[in-house]
Amino acid sequence: MIQNKIYSIIGHKGYGKTKLTEVIITLNNKPTIIADPRYQYEQKEYRRFFKSVGHFRKYILNSNNRREFYRCKLELVVNGLDEESFEELAALVYKMRNISFLVDEIDMFAPPSMTRKASFYKLIHYGRHNQIDIITTSRRSANISRNLTSQTDVVIYSRVREPNDKKYIKDYIGKEYVEVAEILKKFHFLMIDENYKAHIFEVTKKVADLV
Ligand SMILES: Nc1ncnc2c1ncn2[C@@H]1O[C@H](COP(=O)(O)OP(=O)(O)OP(=O)(O)O)[C@@H](O)[C@H]1O
Ligand SMILES: [Mg+2]
Repeated sequence: MIQNKIYSIIGHKGYGKTKLTEVIITLNNKPTIIADPRYQYEQKEYRRFFKSVGHFRKYILNSNNRREFYRCKLELVVNGLDEESFEELAALVYKMRNISFLVDEIDMFAPPSMTRKASFYKLIHYGRHNQIDIITTSRRSANISRNLTSQTDVVIYSRVREPNDKKYIKDYIGKEYVEVAEILKKFHFLMIDENYKAHIFEVTKKVADLV
């Protein structure tokens, strides 16, 4: 798995984006912080849940906890997020090293109007210096900050329908891939890697059940 990259997963509702994030973080094998605004991540042995950023802050500022987080490669799931508390979370993550930061439903926090002052902006632009991988999901690429799309290394599309998303794919890798992306089946994805090479893959039920 590629390290210190930004992955953007974009596509239609219910086509397996969130599940794919779980596959990616498992392969990435780094301690992970998950911003989970819609309570999508389930209990697992290696996961800890925080009902607010305040609770997460208290946990992560304790050095014993931090050691446990790194040693056991835990996944820390932060719920109860709004724009303000996400900013607080991103600022905490920005101070960390060698982790993955996964944000489900990024459009809630990094809309096109996102400014340079946002900690998530800094994470996008400078996080790789601290070995921070970023993984995000969104239903529409038009709803997310251009700062994120322009810095993304690996874009992964599930089925797309919106004209803007199709135009984006066309401009990015070519018209022929629009035809691929609009007929993708559930749990199938079109990935464009950092060398602009396209790959099609399926997250099989077997892999989905493993994570
Ligand atoms: N590869 C898979 N095989 C079988 N079931 C899957 C697979 N991936 C996801 N699912 C199931 O399909 C449903 C939708 O998946 P998921 O929540 O990942 O989609 P999503 O694209 O994130 O949807 P949304 O846009 O609503 O957030 C879930 O119940 C999930 O458990
Ligand atoms: Mg989802």
